[in-house]
Amino acid sequence: MKLIVGNQKTYLEKRKITEFIESFKNEKFKNVIIIPSFPYLGMLETDDFMLGSQDVSIFESGNVTGEVTATQLKSLGVKYSLVGHSERRSNFNENEFELTKKIGLLSKNNIIPIFCIGETLEDRSNDSEEEVITMQINEVFEDFDKEVLEKIIIAYEPVWSIGTGITPSNSEIEKMVIYIKELIKTNYGLDLKVLYGGSVNANNIVELNKIESVDGYLIGKSSTDPQEFLNIIKSC
Ligand code: PGA
Repeated sequence: MKLIVGNQKTYLEKRKITEFIESFKNEKFKNVIIIPSFPYLGMLETDDFMLGSQDVSIFESGNVTGEVTATQLKSLGVKYSLVGHSERRSNFNENEFELTKKIGLLSKNNIIPIFCIGETLEDRSNDSEEEVITMQINEVFEDFDKEVLEKIIIAYEPVWSIGTGITPSNSEIEKMVIYIKELIKTNYGLDLKVLYGGSVNANNIVELNKIESVDGYLIGKSSTDPQEFLNIIKSC
């Protein structure tokens, strides 16, 4: 069964998130993770699906106004957290130092990191997508023991596909996913799950599902419309 992760970014306001919760009331999904904005985490505490966070503080606790810590997330029932989403890397200049701190604090609190990686269009036009992905993985993975790394889920999201309506071809996705899996196997001796993310929707999900190596999807915009999201879940 593929893992379906809904990254709702900042799309929904309170009325919409209430409607979203209502539409999922009679559904129970063991393979679905909903990642709302921080203010709604408490509203979504439920057995119907798993709960994730879009980010986590690099601070453990204390005087850090405006932050949300891994311990607080844990206390809200959060089981997964995105780390290194491309929108955080580009808008907030998140670097490997911060990403490493986040993964460390998450694993200390038994929250599974969903570590996001992906190349830009420029990287791809320079044929350097594999080089970029390798660097993104190694610069963070090198700092951890196997016990931490084996819990991580990878989300491969080409930056040029996020929110653009453009998806790579199945063979392009497959090539990268296999590359990532082999790299992690060779360098760290681990078989990690790899999700695909970037403009997944109810129309392209059937075609994407033909890629066997993909273990699930990280879905942005299409996870905010309850009907569309349900259609995606049901086709997986
Ligand atoms: P998208 O976003 O599905 O809207 O392209 C994916 C993501 O940013 O995780």
